[in-house]
Amino acid sequence: MTASSGGLRQYLTQSGQCSDPWGRYYTSAEISRSLIERIEARKPKLVLELGSGAGSLCMAAANRWRDAQLVTVDVDLEAPKRLDVGHIGRDTKHIHFVHDALDEALSDKIGLCLGTVDVAVCNPPYIRPRWRCDFGKILEDAGLSGALASLRDAGADLLFLAQNLRLLRPNGKLGLILPDGLVTAERFSGVRKALMRQHKLEQVIQLPRGVFKNTEAQTYLAVLSKMAGETEQVKVRQMKHGGCLSAAIEVPQDLGAKRLDYSFHARPSVQAREGTVQPITIGAAVTNVVRGTICSSAIAAFPEPVFHLGDFAESAGQQAARIVPKRFALGKRSATIASNHARLALPGDILLARVGRKLERHLALVVHGPCVISDCIFALRTTDEHRERLYRFFESEAGRLALATSAHGVAARFLSKTNLLEIEF
Ligand SMILES: C[S@@+](CC[C@H](N)C(=O)[O-])C[C@H]1O[C@@H](n2cnc3c(N)ncnc32)[C@H](O)[C@@H]1O
Repeated sequence: MTASSGGLRQYLTQSGQCSDPWGRYYTSAEISRSLIERIEARKPKLVLELGSGAGSLCMAAANRWRDAQLVTVDVDLEAPKRLDVGHIGRDTKHIHFVHDALDEALSDKIGLCLGTVDVAVCNPPYIRPRWRCDFGKILEDAGLSGALASLRDAGADLLFLAQNLRLLRPNGKLGLILPDGLVTAERFSGVRKALMRQHKLEQVIQLPRGVFKNTEAQTYLAVLSKMAGETEQVKVRQMKHGGCLSAAIEVPQDLGAKRLDYSFHARPSVQAREGTVQPITIGAAVTNVVRGTICSSAIAAFPEPVFHLGDFAESAGQQAARIVPKRFALGKRSATIASNHARLALPGDILLARVGRKLERHLALVVHGPCVISDCIFALRTTDEHRERLYRFFESEAGRLALATSAHGVAARFLSKTNLLEIEF
């Protein structure tokens, strides 16, 4: 339901993941070449790939560094069959091991000493292996154990990164393909900070979605130089479909700890957008943010209608308010009963989607009465002073861009309350 421009002000001012067990998503030849080209290493003697799969990354490495000794490891017994050994072979010295790359004693098993590899390349599996005490040791050796609230937050991506760091020599280069979590999620900000303090994180490139078959996961290329000095600034870029790269944004360490994705750092500042209006954060403009509690599987059985993702109306332009339909409005008595079992949005609240691929397009205003909201919805409670500006911001291109770039997630997108409250408008 939408309201015409005449009604808009009135309403606004009223008070009111990965299914493969080994995470086998293989890198295309183009992305592999692109990562290898970005690694500044002239004549590495020893090149390592953990989780080599069908060998696209190590083949690109072998093509560039023809004299290097190449060592690949994969736990999958079938992986060597997929590895195009013939192609790598001939002039390249190549040894493959079928082994668990997360074995704490991997270096002994593959005959390499810790701290000796010149270049490591890796597209780790994006899975969460059952926790083993080896993992704590690997994280500790890599200087990352203090960077996590709980060591068990570490997925295979971070563990592979840590294992590579153990094996690399000082000033050795690590070229990685990373999932969204390590690059943008708040719970990994300590990891980003620790990595930038201990190493030179040279660049992070946001890849176009869909570069991996069968997944829309957001992924990134990253290149790091082990213990080559603290990272002052990281070069952050975006790759378009077709492989063309954007200009680099230099992101200082403290902002990099927050996030390292190009789309976040490339969004225009509020001053640039608005000119004269003094920007404030959403956190300063709201008095409360209520997250619904009814999950989608419980909606049908809930005695009152529950406002959920499919109930948002399409935008009808800047001048028309999108209003929660009357059928969701509860009378006084029903609202009191429902509030014992669910969180309610109140008249005047602005509703946003908390999850979803296109969450930035969802917006609604509560007008007719309190309503029950699902756990995919945020209700922003604000004052008359801020409501209209806030609503208009979310309905604008700039607001949608701010929501889209604040959300994160490998495939589905999530908007955290912290990221939402930090947006300036
Ligand atoms: C995302 S795929 C990447 C494959 C290849 N590097 C590429 O870029 O195309 C991850 C690879 O890691 C392997 N893998 C998963 N868990 C492993 C483990 N614990 N030890 C060694 N390899 C593992 C999988 O078999 C798979 O080949």
